[in-house]
Amino acid sequence: MLQEIIAIVREAGRIVLSAHDVESVTRAKEHNAANLVTAYDEAVQAHLREKLTALLPEADFLGEEGEHDPLTRDWLFIVDPIDGTTNFVRHLNYSNISVALAYRGEVRYGVVYNPYVDEVFAAEKGRGATLNGRPIHVTDHGLDRAITLCGSTIYDRRYTDRSFAIMRHLYDRTMDFRRFGAAALDVCQVAAGRADVFFECRLSPWDYAAGSLILAEAGGVLTRLDGTAADPREGGSVWATNAVCHDAWRELPGE
Ligand code: IPD
Ligand code: CA
Repeated sequence: MLQEIIAIVREAGRIVLSAHDVESVTRAKEHNAANLVTAYDEAVQAHLREKLTALLPEADFLGEEGEHDPLTRDWLFIVDPIDGTTNFVRHLNYSNISVALAYRGEVRYGVVYNPYVDEVFAAEKGRGATLNGRPIHVTDHGLDRAITLCGSTIYDRRYTDRSFAIMRHLYDRTMDFRRFGAAALDVCQVAAGRADVFFECRLSPWDYAAGSLILAEAGGVLTRLDGTAADPREGGSVWATNAVCHDAWRELPGE
């Protein structure tokens, strides 16, 4: 199953790499000028929906773009066709295709693919996490040696003050920050030991469902910012770290 999902996601990557005249097929969603969608997001989702539902017809499909199915079945694909759409529109080459397959709310397979550098992060529950087929593992850095990745929750300004309060708190306690603009990929960078902490005050299921399994299988932990379990079918905050840094959620500034 994992290899089949990887093959489908790699094909979708070719659609992303073939993009041209992106600006002319870009529009803002829901009267929110920062939340962009392009014809490519829709084309990639259509490809993934067709191929993934053919692979496992008994699964529901939850994708970022368009209408969502009512979720009634045990198996569920949770899909972001392009995570990092603003990066995609601006040619920053840091975007990914993210696919999780969950059974009764537990992610069993996760694939996150950055086609620009041809990197496939993948995991199957209980079988470890890999980057292009090689095992990956989180660091054992404490907070004082941590590189922190973050999202600014730009689509919902109700979280702005808390986001910056947490950034300020971590700025004083960690080595440095990065804000790259694609949450699923950021979680995978922690899994691969390239960073140590990622947080964002509000994400949608497709932004972290696949990454949550890849991180867990690489020895890390993904929860809500209050340390509680994150249901991959529901949106919410995300605190995704190596095993050493995870407990630091206890000291984070509250809501
Ligand atoms: C967004 C990116 C971004 C994060 C947003 C996400 P999208 O996903 O992951 O880094 O800050 O919260 O919604 O809209 O590009 O798929
Ligand atoms: Ca997206």
